[in-house]
Amino acid sequence: MKVLFIGGTGNISRSVSLACIERGIDLHLLTRGTRHVDIPGAQVVQGDIYRQDDVRALLEGSRWDSVVDWIAYTEEDIIRDIGLFRGKTGQFVFISSASAYQKPPVHPLITESTPLCNPFWEYSRNKIACEERLNRAYRDEGFPITIVRPSLTYDTVIPVAIGGWTEYTVIERITKGQPIIVHGDGSSLWTVTHAEDFAKGFVGLLGHPQTIGEAFHITSDETLTWNQIYWAVAQAAGREPHLVHISSDFIAACEESLRGSLLGDKSCSVIFDNSKVRRIVPDFKATIPFHLGIKRTLAWFDADPARKIVRKETHEMMDRILQAYLKE
Ligand SMILES: NC(=O)c1ccc[n+]([C@@H]2O[C@H](COP(=O)([O-])OP(=O)(O)OC[C@H]3O[C@@H](n4cnc5c(N)ncnc54)[C@H](OP(=O)(O)O)[C@@H]3O)[C@@H](O)[C@H]2O)c1
Repeated sequence: MKVLFIGGTGNISRSVSLACIERGIDLHLLTRGTRHVDIPGAQVVQGDIYRQDDVRALLEGSRWDSVVDWIAYTEEDIIRDIGLFRGKTGQFVFISSASAYQKPPVHPLITESTPLCNPFWEYSRNKIACEERLNRAYRDEGFPITIVRPSLTYDTVIPVAIGGWTEYTVIERITKGQPIIVHGDGSSLWTVTHAEDFAKGFVGLLGHPQTIGEAFHITSDETLTWNQIYWAVAQAAGREPHLVHISSDFIAACEESLRGSLLGDKSCSVIFDNSKVRRIVPDFKATIPFHLGIKRTLAWFDADPARKIVRKETHEMMDRILQAYLKE
């Protein structure tokens, strides 16, 4: 199989790239080359997807079995992709987001038939608009779409709601014994998936004829509370966390930038039903429990101190919320 990734060296896509190479896929990665990530065996095409004419020239004359856009976020990105890849690929995979599922959910068990509706988070509404545009292209002209919706998926990021992700601030707070904020009472249910587990499900979807026109999520089957997630992170850092529980509404009222990601995603209890992906990829099974996966992630940060980005603004934001809460 000949496969093109737009992206492919990122937090999720790096593991998928490695899994593709392991499967013997002829993998081409279109990236700007700003990060030094080694994917031995992949052909790197240096380019910026937002420079459409350059990309068209770079890809001229090529045809793929699958094209995966890891970094499409708006309907405009999708319109560009349909223009670039119409007639040139047997499958076009759009990386959407499980945050697109109905929020708050009327039922915690999430299947691919759960409605897509998120009044809280613009990021998710844009992903929904992308999916709708692609579904139209499939219906109207047979554009061979497959939609994949990751939920919180980590490898080189710290998967917590406040103070983590690409930054290390939450770990610094934990190691210094400073309070960290947990939304709600920490008992809502969530799933965190290691990118290597995600990759096992994803590669089985590539080139599979029964995926065309379909959407899939791919997650771990491990259901955790947020308290368990924060404890696992702290224990991987060798500490006990000082958790302060604050309602998501209160946090969002203090810090508007957290509203979407909390009320439109992480504050809602969800349990993912992965039976659809398993119908296509019968051996898909996530095997990396969070308390072990997060140790690997922290070891990745330890391997290069430059990765440990601590932001003063994030410390200040967390302190501001904590002070406002303690004054209540
Ligand atoms: N992780 C999660 O929990 C989660 C959950 C739901 C959905 N998602 C979705 O997953 C996707 C992110 O995948 P990821 O983690 O692999 O991404 P990522 O860590 O953001 O990596 C981005 C990749 O795209 C390349 N890139 C960035 N800008 C580019 C440009 N203008 N032209 C060409 N290449 C470019 C980067 O390489 P260079 O910098 O070298 O160009 C890198 O390979 C997003 O669509 C996101 O919405 C993630």
